[in-house]
Amino acid sequence: MSGGTFAVLGLFSDAHRIVDAANQIRPRRLGRLEAYTPYPVHGLARAIGLAPSRLGRLVMLMGVIGAGLALLFQGWVSAVDYPLYTGGKPLFSWQAFVPVIFEVTVLFATFTAGLAMLFGLNKLPCFGHPVLHSKAIKDITRDKLALSIEADRAAFDADAARQALLDNGAESVELVPVPIYDRPLSLVGLLRTIAAIVAACVVAGVGLYAAEKLIPIVPPMIHMHDQPKLNAFRESAFFADGRGMRPAVAGTVARGHLPPAFTSPEEAGTLLGNPLPLTQTIAERGRKVFGDHCAICHGLVGDGVPLLSRAYGGKPGNFLSNEIRARPEGHLYGVLMLGKNAMPSYAADLDEDDRWAVVHYIRILQRAQNAKDEDLR
Ligand code: HEC
Repeated sequence: MSGGTFAVLGLFSDAHRIVDAANQIRPRRLGRLEAYTPYPVHGLARAIGLAPSRLGRLVMLMGVIGAGLALLFQGWVSAVDYPLYTGGKPLFSWQAFVPVIFEVTVLFATFTAGLAMLFGLNKLPCFGHPVLHSKAIKDITRDKLALSIEADRAAFDADAARQALLDNGAESVELVPVPIYDRPLSLVGLLRTIAAIVAACVVAGVGLYAAEKLIPIVPPMIHMHDQPKLNAFRESAFFADGRGMRPAVAGTVARGHLPPAFTSPEEAGTLLGNPLPLTQTIAERGRKVFGDHCAICHGLVGDGVPLLSRAYGGKPGNFLSNEIRARPEGHLYGVLMLGKNAMPSYAADLDEDDRWAVVHYIRILQRAQNAKDEDLR
């Protein structure tokens, strides 16, 4: 910048005048045009050639990048790197990714907006603006309007700029020098700022903590955790044995959880038959139980091919095999109740009707793969 001139300021008192002046001066390309007015002036932004802010486009771009990355990352993790079927859904279930995509989009967009505003467009860590130190600034913030021609190149001609302003109706003209303090914050200044922020945090934190501790909280704001109650797994002075959690009364059985009257699936097969009639409702209930609890290991059609990744090394029974087809329904129920080798017991997870409904459903799966004429009626 030649001669240390930051800009030449021309003062106007009439809004129409300043717009006209800007329209006249802009084509001459004397320097970068800027305007300072105490109130918004229609048409002035266009007259000085102010382009719309680039911030919007930048935020849009980064938001889209954030959304894309979140989609790619989740898709890659769930379908490529660690494929794991959940409830029989496709590995790449984009619907499930939406919340995270949304969050990452917002994260990228807001950080871009904040950082680009502060450091890009507002030019931090440069504080202040040279025009703030001009003589005209007092008038500009009251009732005068200023058009400034900023030196945007080495060959800036301050005299031509000044003449152009005067020729176009400026009442007075001021030369704004490049101020010596117009440079980034010094290291000392930066350290002081950081120290001040830390001090403010400490004072606020300690103060709040002390206030919370020292000032008694009066009813009705009694904390809910200060009420008398029994916590499971915690000691309690209320009972003689000092335990909060009570053992079941001897000889009682939880509702729907009578201990089975058999000791092996084979025995169950000889003792029990399916007490539920096979109706549409029962069949649908069985299908739901099967989908929720069994399909993950036994496969959606019961063919014993797990939906789990290969890391699950088990060999779940193939319901379509002749061996399991031949089993009486009581036997299937027995396996479900007692478990068998790597197959866990489902006695605690399912109520009695669920258990028999899923036994019906296993039969339905078996017939579906091997339908006879009478099944089609
Ligand atoms: C954690 C995986 C897993 C789940 C979940 C699972 N099973 Fe099994 N199931 C197995 C395995 C493994 C076997 C094979 C056991 C064996 O024969 O050693 C098996 C075998 C069976 C058998 C055949 C037993 C026989 O007679 O040979 C039946 C019937 C059965 N499961 C029913 C069910 C039902 C009903 C459900 C859902 C309520 C279910 N399983 C859920 C792993 C599972």
